[in-house]
Amino acid sequence: MKHLLSISDLERSSIEAILDGAEHMASVLGREIPKVPALRGKTVANLFYEDSTRTRLSFETAAKRLSADTMTFTVTSSSVKKGESLLDTVKTIEAMGIDALVVRHSAAGAPHRIAGWVDASVVNAGDGRHEHPTQALLDAFTLRRHRGPSLDGARIAVVGDVRNSRVARSGIECWTRLGAQVLVVGPPTLMPENLDGWPVTVHSNLDDVLGEIDVAYILRVQQERLGPAILPSLREYYTRYGLTAQRAEQMKPDALVMHPGPMIRGPEIATEVADGPRSLIREQVSNGIAVRMAVLWELIGSGGIL
Ligand code: NCD
Repeated sequence: MKHLLSISDLERSSIEAILDGAEHMASVLGREIPKVPALRGKTVANLFYEDSTRTRLSFETAAKRLSADTMTFTVTSSSVKKGESLLDTVKTIEAMGIDALVVRHSAAGAPHRIAGWVDASVVNAGDGRHEHPTQALLDAFTLRRHRGPSLDGARIAVVGDVRNSRVARSGIECWTRLGAQVLVVGPPTLMPENLDGWPVTVHSNLDDVLGEIDVAYILRVQQERLGPAILPSLREYYTRYGLTAQRAEQMKPDALVMHPGPMIRGPEIATEVADGPRSLIREQVSNGIAVRMAVLWELIGSGGIL
């Protein structure tokens, strides 16, 4: 595998191979010295054109745990502010000598274009509303750890702003390939215009499905991607779709709660649910490092020095 741009490029067996690799990486992270020389001499550059806390730090940490050198580029402190084009910026970074380029960009398809310009491996760390494959993989890894070896038969409800969510798009592709059934739940205004071909069932009433799901996967309402006409009343949205403690009580005893972050505590998810026993939110963050280590190793690793 040269690049990781989209979950649709991965068959079930390739996804499982990455998740198995991540198990190994998680055991590395559990050691007294959580670092191996697997990518010594390699350079991983992070190219972030959009804001990020988790994803950027997670890739940076993953590369460091594998002993790669890292460079991080964030648009707010770069020559993009002086008008440099994406192509010139990418070529400049490549000229410094890199093996992998981790890209986040507000334009769907930007990582695919960049992959055509460079010799390095490109990882899509989120492109507009399109895809966020490593988030889908780390969520699958987290769920697999809680459910045994597979997601077969798991009923996962993706709740909220599906229309604007690259996390939802990649997650639905990934989890269904692993055997899960996905429900999308939210107001029609936050659903994609055309759901033809999506392997999901569509629901507008969260309370109707709470008792039958294994996972409530809550999305952030992405106000930066919404026009004012789409969602006139956030308060009404939260009343119907916020995961309150009362709603969490309607779920099966062993049902789980996930969120990709950043989460809006209170309206979107109640603090006692976010920090409660059903919540995998912190584990998702920790597991992200192991999964990104496995991805980097798969793309630019060679030999068996783990
Ligand atoms: C998400 C993103 O940026 O796509 N966060 C993440 O990477 N964990 C989701 C979001 O911003 O709501």
